[in-house]
Amino acid sequence: MIEKVSACPGNDKDLNSNNEKAIISLIGSSTADAVGLPGKAYTSEEFLEQERHTIFANYWVCVGRSSVLTHSGDLIPIEVAGIPIILVRDHHNEIHAFNNICSHRGLKLVTQPCQQQKQIRCPYHSWSYDLNGQLQSTPHFGGYWQDTYEGFDRSSKNLQSIRCEQWLDLIFINLAGNAPPLRDYLQPIIERWSVYDLNLLRYGEEISFEFNANWKLAVENFSEHYHLPWVHPQLNNSSRMEDHFSFEVGENHIGQGSKLYRIGAIGDRTLPVFPNLQTTRRETVAEYISVFPNLMLGIHPDYFLALVVNPLSPSLSVEKMTFYFVGDEATNSEYEELRQITIDLWKITTDEDIEIIERLQKGRNSPAFGGGCFSPALESTLHQFQRLVAKAIAIYS
Ligand code: FES
Ligand SMILES: [Fe+2]
Repeated sequence: MIEKVSACPGNDKDLNSNNEKAIISLIGSSTADAVGLPGKAYTSEEFLEQERHTIFANYWVCVGRSSVLTHSGDLIPIEVAGIPIILVRDHHNEIHAFNNICSHRGLKLVTQPCQQQKQIRCPYHSWSYDLNGQLQSTPHFGGYWQDTYEGFDRSSKNLQSIRCEQWLDLIFINLAGNAPPLRDYLQPIIERWSVYDLNLLRYGEEISFEFNANWKLAVENFSEHYHLPWVHPQLNNSSRMEDHFSFEVGENHIGQGSKLYRIGAIGDRTLPVFPNLQTTRRETVAEYISVFPNLMLGIHPDYFLALVVNPLSPSLSVEKMTFYFVGDEATNSEYEELRQITIDLWKITTDEDIEIIERLQKGRNSPAFGGGCFSPALESTLHQFQRLVAKAIAIYS
C-alpha cells in the first residue's frame, strides 16, 4: 500500500518524497525510532488537499450536534476541511447531509442557519429542493413560463446526499460513503464507556476557539500529558502528569486518562454524577479518547466533553468544545456556578494549549525542522495519531 503514496497529487516533488519517507518511518518504526511528520505536513496547502480526499473523505467526521436542529425544516451550513455541507432535519425528524451546492450552477445554497423551512431555495435562478434534497422546481428552465424541456432529467439534479449517522447528540458524516457503520467504528469506545449511562447526557454549553496552527497539532497536544507540569500548572495541581495512564481502545482511537480527577465543588455541593459507577470511577477517574481523525472526547464522573477541530487553512483552525452534563437537573440554574467551574477550567487550559500550539506551528515553518521525536514512555499516543495520519494517506492516495 505504501507505494501508492508516490501517486499523490501535487507538483512538489520534494514535498511528496519527504512525505513518503516520513510515512514509511511512522508506520514501520517503533516509537523510540520514529521520526515525526515533516513541517510541510502542517504548512502546505497541497498536504491539506491530500488530507481532504484521504482522511476527511474516508473516515467518520463529527460535524455538529442534533440538538441544534430542533424542528423539521431547520438547516445549518457547516464546513469539513473547507468543503461546504448542509445539515437538514426533514419532516420525518431524520437528519440528512448534502453538499451545499446548487445542482444548476454550483452556488453555495445555505449561508446561515435557518429554522423551519419548507424547502431549500437557490437565490440565483430560484431552483428549489425539498428537505430530502429532491429537486422540486426549476422556473423557466425550458424557456419563458416552462419549467422543463423534453429530455431534461430532473431526478438527476437532486442535491448530492452525503452519508450521515448519529451517536448520542453528535452527527457524523462520511463523505466517500465507504466507512463501516458508525456504531462499528465507535464500538471500542462504546464498550469502554459502557459503565456510564450516556443516555443521561444533556447539552450544557458550546464554546469555540480559533487558532493559528494546523488542526493536527490540536489533536496531538490532546493526545499526550507529558506537557502538563509546564503548560498547565493549575491543572497539574489537581491531576498530575504522573497520575495519567494510556489505554488501548481499538486501532483508530487513542485513549488516555487520569486517576486523580477532582470533581469541581462549591463547599460540599457538586454537579450530579453518573449513577452506578464504582467508587473509584465515580470519585477520581477521567478518561480521554481521540477519535480519528478530528474528534476528541472526555468522560468525567460529572460531565462529558466533545471537541472537534476543523482546518480552515493549513495554519488556521477552529475548535468547537461542547459540554454535556449528567441528567436534566444538572442543566438547572442552581448548578450554573458549578458548570461554570468546569467550563472555565477548560477555557484556561485551552488558552494555555493554544499559545504552545501556535509556537509549534511557527517552528514547522523552519526548514531546519526534521519531524522531531517521541518519548516511548509518554508519547506513544502521539506517535499512534501520526501513524493513523500516515496510514490514511498511504491507503487512500
Ligand atoms: S445556480 Fe442555483 S438556480 Fe441557478
Ligand atoms: Fe494541554
